[in-house]
Amino acid sequence: MVRIPVVLFSVLVLTAITMASVQNKGAAEIDLYGGKSGNVPFPHLRHQNVLEDCNICHTLFPQEAGAIQKLKDAGELKKKQVMNKQCTKCHRQLRKKGEKTGPITCKTCHVKVEKERDK
Ligand code: HEC
Ligand code: HEC
Ligand code: HEC
Repeated sequence: MVRIPVVLFSVLVLTAITMASVQNKGAAEIDLYGGKSGNVPFPHLRHQNVLEDCNICHTLFPQEAGAIQKLKDAGELKKKQVMNKQCTKCHRQLRKKGEKTGPITCKTCHVKVEKERDK
């Protein structure tokens, strides 16, 4: 009879642990505002899979849709700060090391509405 509460308790603890580890990872693909140069389609999920540590990016801005724009509007992030300090910086460093990386030229990141990204 004493056993039942113990088993129940264990099940509850396990459920709590499982739920805490189910993160909100956000959208797999995000369209970032890029001004006159055109927006920047960003493969979020692919970066999560390759980089694993969320805080590589989410130290500059929180895990919220529209966070970058909100901070730019509030003057807490400079225009192009994320682009220069994160996106392009990391892509360049990996390229130097000869590793798989992302685009570093304007037009391979910024896409005008009527154009597809250059492959
Ligand atoms: C390479 C950079 C990068 C990494 C790594 C990254 N994110 Fe993001 N994340 C972004 C960007 C950029 C946005 C869009 C912010 C905006 O809309 O201004 C974003 C937005 C989000 C959002 C908001 C919801 C949405 O769909 O826009 C959530 C939630 C989120 N990220 C969770 C995570 C989690 C969890 C991880 C780690 C598993 C992670 N991110 C790793 C760049 C990154
Ligand atoms: C790796 C992808 C990437 C590359 C390469 C890149 N950009 Fe960006 N750019 C972004 C992202 C993401 C943003 C939005 C976040 C920010 O403002 O930091 C942005 C923002 C901008 C903005 C500011 C938009 C605004 O008004 O808030 C301008 C202007 C800009 N880029 C121009 C350029 C030019 C010019 C080049 C080439 C020299 C370039 N970008 C290369 C990803 C990139
Ligand atoms: C810490 C490193 C790092 C940061 C920060 C980072 N990237 Fe990347 N990015 C990568 C790597 C690694 C790849 C190659 C992934 C692959 O091929 O699976 C990549 C690939 C890409 C691609 C190419 C996808 C394709 O279709 O080939 C785009 C576009 C891109 N990144 C945009 C961005 C933008 C925009 C940001 C900033 C919001 C950013 N990245 C931030 C490491 C980074």
